[in-house]
Amino acid sequence: MATATKGFDGPLGKASAVVMARMNRDMEIAAVDALDLQPHASVLAIGFGPGVGVEELARRLPEVHVCGIDPSAVMVAHATRRNRAGADAGRVMLRRAGAESIPWPDDSFDAVVAVNSAQLWHPLDTGLAEVARVLRAHGSLVMITHRWAIERRCSPDAWVTDVAQCLALHGIETASSTKPFRSGPGIVVTARRRAGPPTTAPGA
Ligand SMILES: C[S@@+](CC[C@H](N)C(=O)[O-])C[C@H]1O[C@@H](n2cnc3c(N)ncnc32)[C@H](O)[C@@H]1O
Repeated sequence: MATATKGFDGPLGKASAVVMARMNRDMEIAAVDALDLQPHASVLAIGFGPGVGVEELARRLPEVHVCGIDPSAVMVAHATRRNRAGADAGRVMLRRAGAESIPWPDDSFDAVVAVNSAQLWHPLDTGLAEVARVLRAHGSLVMITHRWAIERRCSPDAWVTDVAQCLALHGIETASSTKPFRSGPGIVVTARRRAGPPTTAPGA
């Protein structure tokens, strides 16, 4: 698989799944809170890790369909165990894949959520283009990312600008803010897809 899962597979991945389930729980819950979901919505969770957010979505909205992707075999196994009832009922479907190649057709989802994952998409703009491809008109996107994880790569302001510009090319307008979480400040990007084609052609 082209997507790197260093630190999220093998014994280290198993240990980090346990830690992340505890330490990042508030971020996952905040992301679910920020989604504006109808009862029968179809939601994609990208980089779900131990599957806390997937579990919360399925618990809160008993008729929602939750799909998820994560390139780590350890995370897929961990999250599938956590969401066994939903998976058995056909409401939760978790697959091994990266954001750069989302294995669902265009316009599949009413909402997309990604917590502490977008900083790992490589390249970022390919992942964002994939999000735009699978998000339906009027669909919502919520991304929450540790500020420190972005700072390892670039300035948070530059990252937010990059994300906003990439998504604007696909007709998705963003708003961003910084919020405190248990494990440090998180950059929250929320977005809604306009109806109809983007005003600027992708790649223009
Ligand atoms: C820091 S963990 C966050 C997990 C969980 N969302 C949380 O906040 O606790 C990052 C997750 O993103 C996944 N990931 C890594 N590269 C990815 C990619 N290219 N696309 C989607 N997910 C990716 C990792 O396997 C891992 O499960």
